[in-house]
Amino acid sequence: MSRMIAVANQKGGVGKTTTSINLSACLAEKGKKVLIIDMDSQGNTTSGLGFEKNDLDKTIYEVLRDEISIEESINEVEGCFGNLDLIPANRNLAGAEIELITANDMQYILKNKLKPIRELYDYIIIDCPPALGMLTVNAMTASDTVLVPIQCEFYALDGLSQLIYTIQLIQENLNPDLYIEGVVFTMYDARTNLSLQVVENVKDNLKQNIYKTIIPRNVRLAEAPSHGLPINLYDKKSSGAEAYSLLADEVIEMDQ
Ligand SMILES: Nc1ncnc2c1ncn2[C@@H]1O[C@H](COP(=O)(O)OP(=O)(O)O)[C@@H](O)[C@H]1O
Ligand SMILES: [Mg+2]
Repeated sequence: MSRMIAVANQKGGVGKTTTSINLSACLAEKGKKVLIIDMDSQGNTTSGLGFEKNDLDKTIYEVLRDEISIEESINEVEGCFGNLDLIPANRNLAGAEIELITANDMQYILKNKLKPIRELYDYIIIDCPPALGMLTVNAMTASDTVLVPIQCEFYALDGLSQLIYTIQLIQENLNPDLYIEGVVFTMYDARTNLSLQVVENVKDNLKQNIYKTIIPRNVRLAEAPSHGLPINLYDKKSSGAEAYSLLADEVIEMDQ
């Protein structure tokens, strides 16, 4: 049975893409068959996995516009144990947010497109854009769960109530089975009290499942995308690689 996880937070720079790439690659390393879908026109997941994003003409955008089949958009990510596939994105996707509004069943386009390939994967991870627009709605309508990265910074809780409200609306109107599988703290800096305070504060105020694994601030995680590699291929011994491997274990445990 496959599980589809939308990695979402309408704030930019909180670690959505870093989490999508590295969670996917660690799940792949553990023998799971994984598809990662880049739903952000910035294409950072696409370039972070070593693809030249602006050379691509078979992306999620062409799939959503019904110009190509979903199978045609799938690329294998080399070096990832034969277990990781990518549906890429690039700047063309920026137009989709408006264009989808004129489509029939506009909230269900991604879900419908994924139907024929869902069962080919153990996990489908969707890296959402930093907005609660139609692309994120499509991702959440298609998904089983939402994983919310929270950056350990002073404004961590800002905007979270809006995100949770959006998820509730989608549950009520589009996808009754959707739930928040958990929040994961990112960029934790053990040298500052602030990171610790943020974690304590969110734990006290947020009635959601919180992953035990906390992702540390680790320069290797920031460097890896410029080499087009996930962290477990770039620097397996780094603290970032260890953390994402533990997060993958927790995600797998939730299925059992
Ligand atoms: N744990 C981390 N340690 C160090 N840098 C990180 C970490 N997580 C993310 N970053 C860096 O922070 C920036 C924003 O992260 P990103 O994953 O792109 O966020 P989002 O997708 O939410 O916009 C990127 O430059 C990324 O390399
Ligand atoms: Mg991103």
